[in-house]
Amino acid sequence: MTYAFQAEGLVKRFGATTALVGVDLAARPGTVLGVLGPNGAGKTTAVRILATLLRPDAGRARVAGFDVVDSADEVRRRIGLTGQYASVDEDLTGAENLVMIGRLLDLSRSAARDRAAELLAEFDLTEAAGRRAGTYSGGMRRRLDLAASLIAHPEVVFLDEPTTGLDPAKRDDVWSLVRRQVAEGVTVLLTTQYLEEADALADEIAVINRGAVIAHGTPHELKAVVGGQTLHVRPLDPGRLPHVAALLARVTGTRPGSPGRGVLAVPVEGDAVLAPLVAKLAEERIEVMELSLRLPSLDEVFYALTGEETVPAEETENETEGAAA
Ligand SMILES: Nc1ncnc2c1ncn2[C@@H]1O[C@H](COP(=O)(O)OP(=O)(O)OP(=O)(O)O)[C@@H](O)[C@H]1O
Ligand SMILES: [Mg+2]
Repeated sequence: MTYAFQAEGLVKRFGATTALVGVDLAARPGTVLGVLGPNGAGKTTAVRILATLLRPDAGRARVAGFDVVDSADEVRRRIGLTGQYASVDEDLTGAENLVMIGRLLDLSRSAARDRAAELLAEFDLTEAAGRRAGTYSGGMRRRLDLAASLIAHPEVVFLDEPTTGLDPAKRDDVWSLVRRQVAEGVTVLLTTQYLEEADALADEIAVINRGAVIAHGTPHELKAVVGGQTLHVRPLDPGRLPHVAALLARVTGTRPGSPGRGVLAVPVEGDAVLAPLVAKLAEERIEVMELSLRLPSLDEVFYALTGEETVPAEETENETEGAAA
């Protein structure tokens, strides 16, 4: 088997809406495929088909060697799924949630308890294990959700926007948990709205828009198309902008542009310019409000790929489903 999962030509319609118009996705075992796309792009629909929760109208998909339609039970035994919206039972404790899922997966009572304890420890939830999940913070819930998807030692894990709404520190926690699973040989499909997240975790990225893959490649290849990192500097005193612009040009070798009032931006490769820049700013006593290195936002990625703004294909229909996110 060369692919841990492979989808070819997936089509899915919901009434008048065509959510997927012919999507191909694949990942080799032990790798991460990042599926990057705006609201309504079709990410959750693709995940639900691969996880056997929806039947495609056309096309086919195999996961862990089995067809998702003909051998759905075989597929289900080998996958874990963390949905976009937390699915833990708030009235149960963290430990009870995991034990219940283990029991649903046919583990014996003691095996379910052992596996729950193991995952609670791994996900840093042992202390909170006896508390109702309803009292957990957003980050703790995501960790519990992720733990729940791993009870049965799945070969393939689907993570649907696992960090949306988390603050950066909690997001980093989730990232390291994902990396740890991958290091153990798990294959991951991760959907996200952040290029930064796909860049941090994925071996390959598929960008989807309006139900179609519009770009596919390694993070490096994608960044070559959409642009790499940009350095942003916002001096505390806007009167010093010309001074900072000159300094940036000297340090980076490129004349900066101004993407907004009071801020300068310049494309850079890597973070090598940061240390000399900070030293120069200190030397010339320029205080800054913002000094950041960032990848293009999803909007910028889409603009670079399509020349279009990221307006969801079905704005009205998305309201009901995506409003909470
Ligand atoms: N059960 C459904 N019934 C009707 N339309 C649906 C259904 N599920 C999805 N859609 C529509 O299919 C399209 C793709 O939706 P999907 O949820 O797959 O997008 P997404 O990429 O996951 O978006 P988000 O980032 O908001 O989660 C949207 O237009 C959506 O409104
Ligand atoms: Mg979704």
